Amino acid sequence: MSAKHKTIYVCQSCGAHHPRWMGKCPTCNEWNTLVEEALPSGKSKALHNSSIEKNTPEILADINPEKAARIVSSLVELDRVLGGGFVIGSSVLIGGDPGVGKSTLLLQAAASMAGGGNGVLYITAEEASAQIRLRSDRLDLDCKDFQVLAEADVDLCLEWARKMEPAFVIVDSVQTCRTSDFDSAPGTVTQVREVASRWSDYARQSGAAVALVGHVTKEGAIAGPRVIEHLVDAVMMFEGDNLGSVRMLRALKNRYGATGELGVFEMTSQGLKGVSDPSRRFIGQRSNGVSGVAVASTVRGSRPMLIEVQALVTTSLYPAPQRNSTGIDPRRLAMWIAVLEKRVGLGLAGRDVFINATGGLKLDDSAADLAAAAAINSSLRDVPVNPETVLIGEIGLTGEVRAVSAMDRRLSEASHMAFKRAIIPDAYKDDIPKGIKVIRVKTLEDALEASI
Ligand code: TYD
Ligand code: MG
Repeated sequence: MSAKHKTIYVCQSCGAHHPRWMGKCPTCNEWNTLVEEALPSGKSKALHNSSIEKNTPEILADINPEKAARIVSSLVELDRVLGGGFVIGSSVLIGGDPGVGKSTLLLQAAASMAGGGNGVLYITAEEASAQIRLRSDRLDLDCKDFQVLAEADVDLCLEWARKMEPAFVIVDSVQTCRTSDFDSAPGTVTQVREVASRWSDYARQSGAAVALVGHVTKEGAIAGPRVIEHLVDAVMMFEGDNLGSVRMLRALKNRYGATGELGVFEMTSQGLKGVSDPSRRFIGQRSNGVSGVAVASTVRGSRPMLIEVQALVTTSLYPAPQRNSTGIDPRRLAMWIAVLEKRVGLGLAGRDVFINATGGLKLDDSAADLAAAAAINSSLRDVPVNPETVLIGEIGLTGEVRAVSAMDRRLSEASHMAFKRAIIPDAYKDDIPKGIKVIRVKTLEDALEASI
C-alpha cells in the first residue's frame, strides 16, 4: 500500500466500510468478507471549494418538466423494457449470468443505433476487439460508425469517450474495468462502484446514454452486493433457462419507465430475435387431448402472456414422495398440493408430483394457481383439461378462488389466442371481452369440475 493512501476495510458482501479488519462483518454478519482497500487522498476537495451560488434550489412548480429524450435501439423488446429506448444522459446496468447473451444484445442494439447515425463506442474489457468483430460478422451487422476500444482502465476509457463524444457507450463489463486510483483488483466492491459511478457521472455530464454490463454472482445480485444498483438510472436483468433459447429482459429499477415490463427474445444462430407474440411461442406446440396440461393467463408489467403449465402425478416408489418444479416456486407447489389434498380431497399422499411452466419462464404470477391445480388434478385423474379453456385465479388456503389484477387484459389475450372459455374468480363482475365465455367460480373444487 503506498504512503499517500489511507486504508479502509470494505465488506465484499454488503459493501460496508470499517476502519479495521475483523473476521466477521458487523453489518451483514458474513465471515471473511473484509478486504483492505485504499482511499485516494484529497478526494473531496472539490466539494469544499465550491460556492453556493453555483447551484441554487428552485421552486418545484417553476421547473420545466422536460420529457426524457431517448435514442431508440430498434430492438422493440429492448426498447419496451427501457420504457421507449435509452434515455439520453442516463446509465443502465444490464445484468445476467455469463453466456446469457448480454454482449450480443448490446452489440445488436449498438449496431442499429450506429446505423441510425449515432456515434457508438463499445468498450470491451473482457474480450479482444477481434472477438467483437467476429460476433458482429456472425450477426451480419453493419460496423461503420461503430468504434471498439479494448481497454480495462476506466479513466483512459473516459478520456476517449470525452474526446469522441459518442451518443451511446457500452461498457462490457463493470467487473473487468478498474481505476488505478485504488490498488484493489477489478471486480472488488470498491472498483465496481468506482467504475459504475464514474460512468454514470459521465452520462449525466456528457448527455450520452451509457449501458453497463454486469455479471450476476452466485447469490443472484449484480456485481456482488447491490452496491451499484443505486448509482445507475435503470437496472435490467437478462435471464433465460440454460437449455432453452428463450431469453427474458426485466426491469428491476427504472427511473424513466415502469418496472415489471418484460422483453422476450429468442437466441438464434443469427443472434437475438424479439418474440412479439410470446403467448404463441409458449403455448404454440400444445398437444391437445393429453392429461396434465392447463393454460394460465399471466401478466408481466403491462403485458399479458399465456403460459402452459404441465404436471405429472405418479405413484411414488419412495417413502418420501418427490415434489419437483421447474420455473415454479417449490413452496407454491407445496401449497397447491396441501390445498388439493385438504380442501378438494385429492389423494396426492404417496405420489410424486412434477410440475413445470413451459418456455423457460418463471411463473411468479399467483393468477396461475388455478391452472397449476387443474394440471395436477388432470394428471392424477388422467383426464385432459378442456383444450379451449384458460384458468385465471389465485387459490387461498381455505380452497377459495381469489380475485386477481388485470383481468380484462388476461381475458383479451386468451380471446386473442382463440380460447373460448375462461374459468375466473366469482368476484370479477366487469365486462367480458367478446368471443370468450366465462365460468365464475367461488371454490377450487368448482374450478376443477369446470376445467374438464
Ligand atoms: P454472449 O453475448 O457472449 O453472452 P454474455 O455476454 O452474456 O456472456 O452470448 C453467449 C452465448 O450466446 C454463446 O453461448 C453463444 C450464443 N450465441 C448464439 O447462440 N447465437 C449468436 O448469434 C451469438 C452471437 C451467440
Ligand atoms: Mg459478454
